Amino acid sequence: MNEGAAGERLRLFFALPLPLELATTLAAQAASLAGEYGGRPVPVANLHLTLLFLGDLAATDLPALLAAARQAAQAWPRLDLQFGPLAVWPHQQLLWAGLQPAVAELAEFSAVLRSTVEKAGFSVPEAGRPFVPHLTLVRKLARLPAPLPPLQLPAWAATGFELLLSIRTASGAIYRPLGAWPAP
Ligand code: 2AM
Repeated sequence: MNEGAAGERLRLFFALPLPLELATTLAAQAASLAGEYGGRPVPVANLHLTLLFLGDLAATDLPALLAAARQAAQAWPRLDLQFGPLAVWPHQQLLWAGLQPAVAELAEFSAVLRSTVEKAGFSVPEAGRPFVPHLTLVRKLARLPAPLPPLQLPAWAATGFELLLSIRTASGAIYRPLGAWPAP
């Protein structure tokens, strides 16, 4: 990839990846939910929890962004996570899994990331919106499930966070890690 090309814009976000085994199980559940309620299940490689969506940034700003992320990584908390209930955002046609019990820690770290990148001179879209930790499982949901089935999966400890590049294609987005900050 030619990240330094003049004028090039990169669609970027920070996210928390899932351990592969958990992602594989979750992807199978997403596929079964999409089979039942219609829509596009998020494939295993795309499952993630968004910490901060940045929108389109100039490729030339990438080094400054990576430096800000390195700084924010010092505030990384220990995150013992467990899936909470499934939920739907009807307007966005999204079916997602909530998280517990470390929701406050996740929100706090997302706020640290946001203020660190803002101090580095970046503006964050929708900065005023409350952070709702969620893991999208199905997009373009066709029918509203009611009641929502429970999601029973093991707890896990988050292993760090990544900066992901989103490349939109006709068959959906592809995400490429541009930086990773493993938990210390
Ligand atoms: P998601 O976390 O609900 O899946 C890349 O687009 C990622 O950033 C997606 O996973 C997406 O949602 C998340 N995201 C958060 N806010 C967004 C926005 N305003 N536009 C697009 N994506 C956004």
